[in-house]
Amino acid sequence: MRRFDFSETVDRKDTSSVKWDALKAFYGSDDLVPMWVADMDFRTPDAISEALARRAATGQFGYSFFGEREKQAIISWFDRRFNTSVSQEDLLYASGVVTALSHTILALTDEQDEIIIQTPVYPPFFQVVSDNGRTLVENELLLTKDGYVIDFSSLEEQMRTAKLILLCSPHNPVGRVWRKEELERIYRLAETYDVLVVSDEIHADLVFSESTHLPSIDFGRERTILISAPSKSFNIPGLYASFMIAPNVEHRKKIKAVQQRHFVHPNTFALVAFEAAYQSEDSEAWLDSLINYLEENRNHAVRRIRDEMPMLEVQVPEATYLLWIDFTALLPDIEERKLWLRDEAQVALTHGEPFGKTGESFERLNFGCPRQQLDLALDRLGLAYQKQIRDRI
Ligand SMILES: Cc1ncc(COP(=O)(O)O)c(C=O)c1O
Repeated sequence: MRRFDFSETVDRKDTSSVKWDALKAFYGSDDLVPMWVADMDFRTPDAISEALARRAATGQFGYSFFGEREKQAIISWFDRRFNTSVSQEDLLYASGVVTALSHTILALTDEQDEIIIQTPVYPPFFQVVSDNGRTLVENELLLTKDGYVIDFSSLEEQMRTAKLILLCSPHNPVGRVWRKEELERIYRLAETYDVLVVSDEIHADLVFSESTHLPSIDFGRERTILISAPSKSFNIPGLYASFMIAPNVEHRKKIKAVQQRHFVHPNTFALVAFEAAYQSEDSEAWLDSLINYLEENRNHAVRRIRDEMPMLEVQVPEATYLLWIDFTALLPDIEERKLWLRDEAQVALTHGEPFGKTGESFERLNFGCPRQQLDLALDRLGLAYQKQIRDRI
């Protein structure tokens, strides 16, 4: 018997949920199985809900500060989960990971500076570079028979003139967990060409049994800014509890100055969540059990797609609850595929187009949900797939 029940259906409708309540706005139909936005359809661990409820019961919602308690919770998490030491003075609060990426870019680069991103990648990576007037440099990941790998020869060329590289570690959407040799190679280039490394590690806790996440700060503290959060791990992204680890004192000063200019202050409930997520044995046990459930979901979804929809190519993610599916052989045209997914399959997937040119024929499926919901989505996809094949003949 599992101690935690991830098969429970949680009614998320009418909670202002983007995933459930904004289907019509984004897809033009409410009648879709929502397998898009990267949050999960599970209740957060009781330890977090209860800590938030206790705080709510005090009726005290005055201004709060990111202090020793929250910092200690993060430090002990990194120690226990990654065997990595973090100092209190290196930690900064962040009101969201993307906000932190943007502020770091503003603080540590100048207009026109070249910033490398590894595409296909989480769409805000494009925006935090371009919308801040920096020059976007795409280091396209290569899709090989063994999955996605880094194109190191073009990366070396790009590093020569770049100021900063934005890592997604583990990588959304391709699901890679970067190995020691890959990170060492990135850092060797970063040192040679004096490039800063900003590493988004929001998916670091959701790594499956065959892989190990290695925090970027262990490869070069002085040139790294690690940005992360308990948001994905404990399904609390709406609390905007995030943080940065910036061991270089000059970097920290500059980032703090940008945060001050933008009036970044912690949300009271976010502070409660840091401790309840990272210091509670129950939350940690919940996370371990969640990872097992997600791994089973991953294997189940991959098996069903390969067996029942062989014209779809699926990458097996080493981390995250995101499945990156290539529709090239079935429906390469973006507009036709969007309509097919909405009207025939009636499933909301995240379209690959905003992830970059090499993502255009892909769709991303979020399997962070009860198995029953995953099966409903796969059943609908499978039926539409069969019909599509029949109509072709
Ligand atoms: C790689 C990555 N970074 C950041 C975020 C979002 O973080 P936040 O909502 O804290 O800005 C996501 C959400 O999907 C993500 O996948």
